[in-house]
Amino acid sequence: MMMPENGHRAHGFSSAYFLDSDEILAELDLSGDEVFMDAGCGDGHIAIKVLEDYNHRGTVYAVDVYDASIEDMETYKQENNVDNLINVEADITEGIPGVEDDSIDVVLMVNVFHGFKASRKLDEAVLELKRIIKQDGKIAIMDYKAWDVPNGPPTKMRSSPSDLEELFNNHGLKMTYLNEEIGEDIPEGKSHYFIVFQKE
Ligand SMILES: C[S@@+](CC[C@H](N)C(=O)[O-])C[C@H]1O[C@@H](n2cnc3c(N)ncnc32)[C@H](O)[C@@H]1O
Repeated sequence: MMMPENGHRAHGFSSAYFLDSDEILAELDLSGDEVFMDAGCGDGHIAIKVLEDYNHRGTVYAVDVYDASIEDMETYKQENNVDNLINVEADITEGIPGVEDDSIDVVLMVNVFHGFKASRKLDEAVLELKRIIKQDGKIAIMDYKAWDVPNGPPTKMRSSPSDLEELFNNHGLKMTYLNEEIGEDIPEGKSHYFIVFQKE
């Protein structure tokens, strides 16, 4: 467990330390009315940014498998009277309870997806994400490039955009956007990619 900048507990390294959440959210061009999900929210800094800095009017879900992260998000919700925040403790690969089929406009996962490869639950994750997004909804993934570099997860846990494209295509989802110039500046280039999948 670590204690990120906003004091909320997280089960992994918070991207608040090294990624620019405004750069990430600019990729989504949110209108403010979407049903938005920060999936694998960790310390919740992205969900909180959407609510506070982007004045989001639509529902914001914060989902994480780590109970302490969701407890902290509940405290944040109560202390700040945030009516449009729904916090859910769930393992994405086992299903997100209370989230209806075809109900989410945008699911964002920052530095989360490689964990599904590590746990060999890639298909389970994709099926659940496909279940919850609307027909024109987006599954947005920001993750580490599949490079053998020191920062970030071990190389064998990483997927390239084309690996993900093959995986999502197998489940009837198509890639609609790819940006490979995003994230931290490291000696090899930009550390991350941002990729979006939608239903056919
Ligand atoms: C590296 S942290 C990133 C947190 C946050 N997205 C960020 O950018 O700071 C990965 C997060 O994904 C969560 N996570 C990992 N596997 C998950 C799963 N199967 N279902 C839900 N959350 C998961 C972890 O508990 C952790 O909070």
